[in-house]
Amino acid sequence: ALQRTFSIIKPDATRRNLTGQINAVLENAGLRIIAQKRLHLTKAQAEAFYAVHKERPFYNDLVAFMTSGPVVVQVLEGEDAVAKNRDVMGATNPKEAAEGTIRKSFAENIEANSVHGSDSAENAAIEIAFFFAGIEIVG
Ligand code: CMP
Repeated sequence: ALQRTFSIIKPDATRRNLTGQINAVLENAGLRIIAQKRLHLTKAQAEAFYAVHKERPFYNDLVAFMTSGPVVVQVLEGEDAVAKNRDVMGATNPKEAAEGTIRKSFAENIEANSVHGSDSAENAAIEIAFFFAGIEIVG
């Protein structure tokens, strides 16, 4: 079914000027970018967005990394967009990511892994609402 998911192009990728190359991979996979903006997250925003990982050992480093430079937040729409985006992103650890995936092509390491994508339709709705007003999403 037609579905929406939430995506972030992370600071390691914006730093290397890869926004357009990553968007091309998303579009070539059949995902439409129906909302997009570039932000520099505050510490409070990154902590709130990743609150689910609060108890993980990598949480503090993750927040520092996500606030180290600009991000591009996006809403993607397409057939089975959540699963399709996870396929095209590849495994969290780029060493385990399949050939042709965004993380295989561009990620630096398991933390600086170039993109985030929602892991379920339920979380996609929560993450989209965290960053976008309805009027900013044009499907
Ligand atoms: P993301 O999909 O945005 O979700 C949590 C992020 O934490 C993950 O991508 C990585 O950027 C980062 N991270 C750092 N270390 C780990 C780890 N060991 N396992 C999972 N995620 C990690």
